Amino acid sequence: MKNKKKLDSKEIGLDIGLMLGKYFFRTEHLHYGYWTNDLKLDIHNLPEAQENYSDFVISHIPEGAKTLLDVGSGVGNFALKLINMGYNVDCVSPSPLLTKHARDILGDKSHIFESNYENLNTDNRYDVILFCESFQYINLVTALENSLKFLNNNGYLLICDFFKTDAKGKSVMGGGHRLTKFYDLISRYPFELVKDIDITKETALNLKLVNDFLTNVGLPIVNLCSNFLSTNYPLLTKLIQWKYRKKIKKIKRKYFSGERNAENFQIYKSYRLFLYRKQADY
Ligand SMILES: C[S@@+](CC[C@H](N)C(=O)[O-])C[C@H]1O[C@@H](n2cnc3c(N)ncnc32)[C@H](O)[C@@H]1O
Repeated sequence: MKNKKKLDSKEIGLDIGLMLGKYFFRTEHLHYGYWTNDLKLDIHNLPEAQENYSDFVISHIPEGAKTLLDVGSGVGNFALKLINMGYNVDCVSPSPLLTKHARDILGDKSHIFESNYENLNTDNRYDVILFCESFQYINLVTALENSLKFLNNNGYLLICDFFKTDAKGKSVMGGGHRLTKFYDLISRYPFELVKDIDITKETALNLKLVNDFLTNVGLPIVNLCSNFLSTNYPLLTKLIQWKYRKKIKKIKRKYFSGERNAENFQIYKSYRLFLYRKQADY
C-alpha cells in the first residue's frame, strides 16, 4: 500500500488563512498589516494595513535593483505589485494551493519555482532576494547559504519577518527564528548590515484582531459544536475528550486563553526589516 504523505500543519494554516482572509476580509496578501496611527484598528481596514506593509517593504528596495527573487511568494500579489513597478520578479513557492493562485495572477509575467527555498536549484542570479514574512519557515543556515549563491555581487538580502526574543516564559505564539541566533549566524557570513528596523509596535496590533476573532467567533463556534456533540453523543464525546485530553488542553491554551494578544507579541516577538548587502567577489 502507498504511504500517504503527511500534511504540514503550517502549510494548512496558510491555506486556511488565505481562504478566510479572501472570503471574509477581501485581503490580497498573507502577511501582517502595518498599522499606522491614522488607520483605525478594525478588521475591515486589514487590506489597507497590508498594503501599507507592502509599501513599507518596497520603500527599502535599494535603488538600481532590477531583478528580484520573491521567496515564499504567497498568493503572488506582492510580486505582481513589484512587476507593475518595473521590476523583474521570479518567485519561489512550495505550496501547491498558493502556487496555483500565484500562477493565475501572474501568468507568464514571472517564473515560479515550485519548490522549497532549501531545494531551489537555478543558474539565475538576482539583485535582491526578498523574504516577506517567509524567512521564519526556512532553515536558517540554508537560507543564508542559498542567498549568497543566488545573489549577484553586491546584491541585497531583504528580510521582513518576526523573530523570537529571549524573553523568559513560554509563549503560546509559535513561529520565528531566535533573533540572537540569527544575529550570531549572519555575522559569520559575508553580509554587511545596511538596515535593521524594528516594526514590532506597528505589527503587534494584528494580534489584537486575532484575539478578538478567536474570542468572539472561534470560541463560541467551538462551544456550540462541543455542546452539540456532548448532548447527542455523550459517550463518544467523553471518550474522545479523554483520549485527546492533552491535545485539547494545548489547543485551548494556544488559541482560546486570550494569551495570543498584542501585549504578548511585543514581549515574545520582534518584527524587523533587515537589509544586508552581499560583500563583493564572494
Ligand atoms: C506568511 S506567507 C507570506 C506570503 C507572501 N510573502 C506575503 O507577503 O503575502 C509565507 C510564505 O512562505 C512560503 N514558505 C513556507 N515554507 C517555505 C520554504 N521552505 N521555502 C520557501 N517558501 C516557503 C509559504 O508557501 C508562503 O507563501
